[in-house]
Amino acid sequence: MFITFEGIEGTGKTTQIKLLKAFLEESGHTVDVTLEPGGSRIGRELRKILLNMESTDITGECELFLYLADRAQHVSQVIRPAVEAGKIVISDRFADSTIVYQGYGRGLDPKLLRSLNDVAVGSHWPDLTILLDIEPEVGLKRAMTRNLQENKMQEEGRFEAESLEFHNRIREGYLTWAALNHERIIVVNADQSPEKVSAEINSKITKILKKHG
Ligand code: TYD
Repeated sequence: MFITFEGIEGTGKTTQIKLLKAFLEESGHTVDVTLEPGGSRIGRELRKILLNMESTDITGECELFLYLADRAQHVSQVIRPAVEAGKIVISDRFADSTIVYQGYGRGLDPKLLRSLNDVAVGSHWPDLTILLDIEPEVGLKRAMTRNLQENKMQEEGRFEAESLEFHNRIREGYLTWAALNHERIIVVNADQSPEKVSAEINSKITKILKKHG
């Protein structure tokens, strides 16, 4: 089974992924956690280019193809082998990030992005996607504090440095895309305590796992 987490910066994806991994392992599943960009060796090189503050001269198309290149490598080297071995794979961001950031955010055509994603993803679209939803003002404050505390603003801050208007577009884009794909994408309110968010996710996952058998 393949599960992905999506959302704007600072929604608490990392915390929720850790909690979900622990919950699933307690019920006997083997869980691999991975992320985009940077889930493979080559992907980690691409991540440096994509997130560094120095990459301000990157074109929208170049950014798009680097994310897709990262994904193609990630699916074939990491996700597909683990899913085929019977594991549950959880990825922090995946193909929906491209549709939302490069599509709704940067203005590329979401339908074209869906087809380009198919080249990288093949038949390995997620079985379930959890969209953590929060007001951009709240999320950005959390993300900035984290990057400053960990001294990562220069290396990883290119998206956090975008305007609030950009992040509002991303949030709205996620909600629109989730509504169009409601059979796969579950929206969870991330503006509550981590315990409450986690309990909501666990109860939804339990129902889905029962259906999966
Ligand atoms: P990261 O530091 O992993 O952010 P977060 O902790 O919020 O997940 O940075 C990933 C950034 O890359 C994030 O701002 C979204 C962006 N992104 C895209 O624009 N397109 C994509 O396809 C992916 C996977 C990420």
